[in-house]
Amino acid sequence: MEKEKYIVCPICRGGLKRCNSSLKCEGGHSYDLAKSGYVNLLNPGKKNNAKAGDSKEMIRARTLFFQTGCYEGIKNALCDIASSLSPSVIIDAGCGEGYYTNSLAMTINNALVFGFDMSKFGTEHASKQARAKGLKSTLFSVSNIFDMPLENECADLVVNMFAPVAIDEFRRTLRTGGHLIIGVAGVHHLEGLKRAIYDEVYLNEKFNDTYEGFVPVSVKSVKYSTTVNSSEAIWALFQMTPYFHRTSIADKEKLLGLSSLTTEVEVDFYIFKKI
Ligand SMILES: C[S@@+](CC[C@H](N)C(=O)[O-])C[C@H]1O[C@@H](n2cnc3c(N)ncnc32)[C@H](O)[C@@H]1O
Ligand SMILES: [Zn+2]
Repeated sequence: MEKEKYIVCPICRGGLKRCNSSLKCEGGHSYDLAKSGYVNLLNPGKKNNAKAGDSKEMIRARTLFFQTGCYEGIKNALCDIASSLSPSVIIDAGCGEGYYTNSLAMTINNALVFGFDMSKFGTEHASKQARAKGLKSTLFSVSNIFDMPLENECADLVVNMFAPVAIDEFRRTLRTGGHLIIGVAGVHHLEGLKRAIYDEVYLNEKFNDTYEGFVPVSVKSVKYSTTVNSSEAIWALFQMTPYFHRTSIADKEKLLGLSSLTTEVEVDFYIFKKI
């Protein structure tokens, strides 16, 4: 599979070709593939690219938590929805450590799957995992999803799980008739975790965004209760949430004494079609 087919140079937007262990454009720009297979395609001249993605600790926490299997229901629901759309080219925008990306590549065998994230640690982990699973159809790149190194209208599906919505880039890179799946926390998502921390628990707001150039197709939800069975995994789950950065030390300490936590998992998938 020619994985570089739709990838363009982040500086001059020319096509990139594989040359030994680098990707090169005709303008003389060159990008080394790391040993694990990912490539850094951030445009060094763009100011917003200096902003780092998730840290090593945050990526580690994600991996540790995913290993518990507590989010398998989310992964399976996403793979079912994506498979039903029969995409040939998929972008996972804000792919993190690649949990969903690699599952999509395993489920939809013939698809070319791009995983983009600002975090070098995320893309590195994702590409190592892809290699360990023998996946030949994934390409992970350190990239800003607001400025993706891809040709116009090359993708059939953009997947965006718990990550910023770079709608202009999703519109540019999707072909007409292509789909966008936005996965967001449902109203009761992680309510049990919040109950363990806060005296007063606020439910999540319902997502109701609309986007120019897209029509809503459907909303699918996955909802179940799960039990996290170790204090390490509970802390890892907490690190994955936005609450981690806005909770007082006193409230954070309430979690430290727990070795088991039962919580709701509720994720809504908003499916749009590019018109
Ligand atoms: C909450 S995490 C979700 C990761 C993954 N989709 C998952 O569900 O496991 C959000 C991710 O978006 C990435 N991110 C944030 N802003 C970004 C940007 N402008 N371009 C690329 N990635 C970005 C972060 O590095 C982080 O990995
Ligand atoms: Zn170039």
